Amino acid sequence: MKAIGINGSPRQTGNTFYLLSTVLGELELRGIDTQLIQAGGRDIHGCIACGKCRKSSVPKCAFDDDIINEALSAIEKADILILGSPVYFGGLSAQMKAFIDRVGYAGRPHKLLKGKICASVVAVRRNGALVAFNSMNNLFTISEGIIVGSSYWNQGMGGAIGDVAGDEEGIQTMKTLGQNIADVAMALKE
Ligand SMILES: Cc1cc2nc3c(=O)[nH]c(=O)nc-3n(C[C@H](O)[C@H](O)[C@H](O)COP(=O)(O)O)c2cc1C
Repeated sequence: MKAIGINGSPRQTGNTFYLLSTVLGELELRGIDTQLIQAGGRDIHGCIACGKCRKSSVPKCAFDDDIINEALSAIEKADILILGSPVYFGGLSAQMKAFIDRVGYAGRPHKLLKGKICASVVAVRRNGALVAFNSMNNLFTISEGIIVGSSYWNQGMGGAIGDVAGDEEGIQTMKTLGQNIADVAMALKE
């Protein structure tokens, strides 16, 4: 089994990374392979609605000069997808928004996420976590993904890099999320 995490924060080893790593760590403990793809801070085009992906026989975007096609192919082979974003002005980071639009649009004709286990996590200093959380989950609910939850909405609170490590409840939420994802993955495998 394989899980892909997408880090939508430009701070490569910031709070979103810490939250994603906590969830992925729980999966690794249970024998699930993991891969983290860095999306934040990279040049990722927004969707230009050219519609070329709709004519492709595989999940593929017309732009071939950024990480989206590599991500589409990695997600296609994976069983689990976990998106992570910091809250920026009450919503997603720009790169995570572009990622969702492109992966969602190119993946839809091929039912890319159908039957895959999906979750999202959010790093937030103070407010806007639920907006970002729901925005990522919107991709899953329109794509036949299987969303796994935790004991609270999947958010960790902190401003400076590493601050979320001090959010005890947030970290426990991530650990429980990882355990729940692994349980669902094993149940589906059986
Ligand atoms: C451009 C920008 C906008 C932000 N907007 C918000 C916001 O609306 N609400 C909030 O609580 N924190 C906001 N923050 C703080 C980040 O969400 C917070 O520092 C988070 O932990 C960053 O995660 P990271 O370390 O993974 O980048 C903002 C930070 C930046 C750089």
